[in-house]
Amino acid sequence: MADYTDEIKRRRTFAIISHPDAGKTTLTEKLLLFGGAIHIAGAVKSNKIKKTATSDWMEIEKQRGISVATSVMGFNYGDYKINILDTPGHQDFAEDTYRTLTAVDSVIIVVDVAKGVETQTRKLMEVCRMRNTPVIIFVNKLDREGRDPFDILDELEAELKISVRPLSWPINIGQKFKGVYNIFEKSLDLFTPDKQRATERVEIEHVNDPRIDEAVGEDDAAKLRDDLELIEGVYPEFDVDEYLAGRVAPVFFGSALNTFGVKELLDCFVQIAPSPRAVEAIERRVEPSESEFSGFVFKIHANMDPNHRSCIAFVKVCSGKFERNAPYKHMRSGKMMRFAAPTAFMAQKKSVVDEAYPGDIVGIPDNGNFKIGDTLTEGSELHYKGLPSFSPELFMYIENADPMKAKQLDKGVQQLMDEGVAQLFYNQFNGRKIIGTVGQLQFEVIQYRLLHEYGAQCRWEPMSMYKACWIESDDSEAMAAFKKRKHQFMALDREGRDVFMADSQFVLTMAQNDFPKIRFHFSSEF
Ligand code: G4P
Repeated sequence: MADYTDEIKRRRTFAIISHPDAGKTTLTEKLLLFGGAIHIAGAVKSNKIKKTATSDWMEIEKQRGISVATSVMGFNYGDYKINILDTPGHQDFAEDTYRTLTAVDSVIIVVDVAKGVETQTRKLMEVCRMRNTPVIIFVNKLDREGRDPFDILDELEAELKISVRPLSWPINIGQKFKGVYNIFEKSLDLFTPDKQRATERVEIEHVNDPRIDEAVGEDDAAKLRDDLELIEGVYPEFDVDEYLAGRVAPVFFGSALNTFGVKELLDCFVQIAPSPRAVEAIERRVEPSESEFSGFVFKIHANMDPNHRSCIAFVKVCSGKFERNAPYKHMRSGKMMRFAAPTAFMAQKKSVVDEAYPGDIVGIPDNGNFKIGDTLTEGSELHYKGLPSFSPELFMYIENADPMKAKQLDKGVQQLMDEGVAQLFYNQFNGRKIIGTVGQLQFEVIQYRLLHEYGAQCRWEPMSMYKACWIESDDSEAMAAFKKRKHQFMALDREGRDVFMADSQFVLTMAQNDFPKIRFHFSSEF
């Protein structure tokens, strides 16, 4: 039996998440520099969407187009094979990010030392928590004035609802920033503001080593010792298992822009972060070490160029070995398929790949066969659990504006939903179709793509709606009573599950109070 243990063990597949502007792109770039995947800073064509372009979604899509190449960044670092999965910074594409998080084994969260935890980070952390994804936190921009590190730690715990454990500690911040003491490796790194140069390390034996005093001055050395004593007193010893279980997040401090603290983060990351783990399928748990290939589609990237309408389906390899041209079963359709030109993403380049192992992402050119969440196997009956959809917050009725093109509209809408652009609901009261999204931009994207890719025209009709949530109950009578009372607000999702469309927070709270036997879910994964 084939044994891929070594390949699996050396893989680290993760995403970097942050609120826009905290430094995700900069950190990604520096990690690539260390991996030798790029040679100069500034080489990453970020998929960061510039603030000026927020209303121009075509521009955003163009930038997202560029980002196909940076969707997955693979590189070798020592014996490790690292795959960084990029996530769109723009909040209107938050669903993309949520889904990407289902394909990673761990996460690095970047927080700005001056701003602390911001909305986007909080939301993304909720997704990590749902899946117990291990997280490491990097507190960035220590070269700028910011908050007291102890306050930041308190805020991280309170806002992200996870215990933290500092593994490095800064000596001052802003103008007076002198460096960090690396608790994980017990070493001292001095700060030199320089974008290209790595850190200067002072060899020390222990925290009382006089070389610390020589390097940073007696006062700061004394403060550092006090701080470290406090840390040891307050925070339990770092326990890797607690981190792997998603219960404690190690924290590093540094400055991505100055390449400071980044190598330390990376060195610790490769040591402690998990290699690909078992993945839950409906039938059973699938271990990465199983010899048969299996994987699932977590993202479909449409090509915005009308001359090339194909998409790329991103498949995460979960078990076995993926091979080019081997026959694989597409579980949803039952069809066998072969892929002649699967691509891998190494050092920012897309190239045809012959084989891939668990943890790797393979890009498969596609013309509408795939749907987000689809499973591929060598033939075994496996269905990876669906990817979570979150309760959308913006809703519009979608209407056909060209009666001659009803079929095209229907096909277009179904395919765009398969790609995960938005969610479709069927109102049970008036029979109309509702599109729900997390961002305003999606409505423009859908309208444009329906016209340009399917020749169909749609019209939006605004509706006032607060939230859609999935409902279930063990008590069929309670369910029937609920549906009867709320019949005007009942809808079905594409899988035929019951969805309650609450038109205000008040109505939702009342419904929750009045119907204690009904469970209200804000994510489709329950
Ligand atoms: P994002 O992907 O999370 O949105 O953030 P990004 O890396 O683009 O960083 C946002 C801004 O913060 C950038 O400045 C970047 O240079 C800066 N930055 C990142 N890390 C540090 C750091 O350690 N210290 C300081 N002082 N700044 C940092 P910008 O002016 O918005 O963009 P750019 O013109 O420099 O690209």
